[in-house]
Amino acid sequence: MNFELTEEQKMIRDTARDFANREVEPKAAELDKTARWPTELVKQLGELGFMGMAIPQEWGGAGFDAVSYVLAMEEISRACASTGVIMSVNNSLYCDPVYKWGSDDQKKQYLTPCASGQKLGCFALTEPMSGSDAQTMVTAVEPVGDDLILNGSKNFITCGDHADFVIVFAVSQRDGKKLKHDALIFPTDLPGVTKAPPDVKLGIHAAHSCTLYFENVKLNRKEHLLGPEHQGFKVAMVTLDGGRIGIASQALGIARAALEKSIAYAKERKAFGGPIANLQAIQFMIADMATELDAARLLTLRAAYLKDKGARHSMESAQAKVFASEAATRIAHKAIQIHGGYGYTVEYGVERHYRDARITEIYEGTSEIQRVVIAANMLKD
Ligand code: CAA
Repeated sequence: MNFELTEEQKMIRDTARDFANREVEPKAAELDKTARWPTELVKQLGELGFMGMAIPQEWGGAGFDAVSYVLAMEEISRACASTGVIMSVNNSLYCDPVYKWGSDDQKKQYLTPCASGQKLGCFALTEPMSGSDAQTMVTAVEPVGDDLILNGSKNFITCGDHADFVIVFAVSQRDGKKLKHDALIFPTDLPGVTKAPPDVKLGIHAAHSCTLYFENVKLNRKEHLLGPEHQGFKVAMVTLDGGRIGIASQALGIARAALEKSIAYAKERKAFGGPIANLQAIQFMIADMATELDAARLLTLRAAYLKDKGARHSMESAQAKVFASEAATRIAHKAIQIHGGYGYTVEYGVERHYRDARITEIYEGTSEIQRVVIAANMLKD
């Protein structure tokens, strides 16, 4: 077992840290307050090679590994969780499946521009009446002559209102014991595609999500079907195995920001004759926060390491996500407690980490769904 990062991984982490400190963190409070989409940061992430980190250079990516992606995601999300999830959606939910299942023509059209950061992709699985029970979606695709006609809607689509391209999952066959699905990829400006205004949310204000509507959108198999026909649900599940590593890394960043602010505040704030860092009540909270953060990071890096090895990592990704996201909420909760009344105001920024942490327990599979995946793996014969 080797806990050492390679020189390249350290360099990527340091580059991400430097960029996050210089460009992202100074803007994070304003982005949260105004819910402004961070156009300039998304562009800069692309220039750094951070929008297609694990995609080979021949397809516009940076050619790094999943461990490097975790390191960079933690740094960017420590500064701004909204910017972190924009990066994560483009990397893991969009570029990864296009690289894995796209034909060369599809990669040329849909991958290279997004992996290089010039365009943006999004992933549309969730529907108003189908979230955790993802297979039961109603969005459907019908063959009509040589075409495929798509009808339905998808909601809570992160980056949906800014994305140039979308991967949509739709029911493609209803007869037989199980529903069958297609994964479809196409530009979001095709006739019949409409984008609703951004959702108003508790946290990650600058990472817009919205509902997308599809009305008789005309597609064809060669250009728009991603992966084998009727295998779309597996495309979604395998993609989420990778995506959950991204969200676990986002949670690490949020938790680290909350812990670092708590340590600084505890050394500075005085009560009962000295800094509150001298009080065991505060020390124990800091100790638990640091231990949970380390455990979450180790789980996340293990899942990324397995992904890099090409091994199945469904359970390890689910373990990383459920632990890191719930730890982030607990850590941000304690950060507010350590800051007392100041923690409840916007002035110190820890309330933002608390609000941002909550979504990591919900999107890309709720904590309950992660436990379903873990239990299914533990109990299988
Ligand atoms: N890898 C490969 N194949 C997989 C798989 C995986 N990880 N998980 C399931 N499959 C396969 C199964 O083997 C099965 O194959 P067969 O039909 O050939 O037997 C098929 O997929 C169906 O599997 P299940 O019977 O286990 O499916 P299920 O209906 O019981 O659902 C579930 C499983 C885990 C609950 C799944 O529905 C799920 O993950 N739900 C959560 C959805 C989710 O994460 N949504 C997030 C939306 S994206 C988002 O949030 C983006 C954003 O904005 C940031």
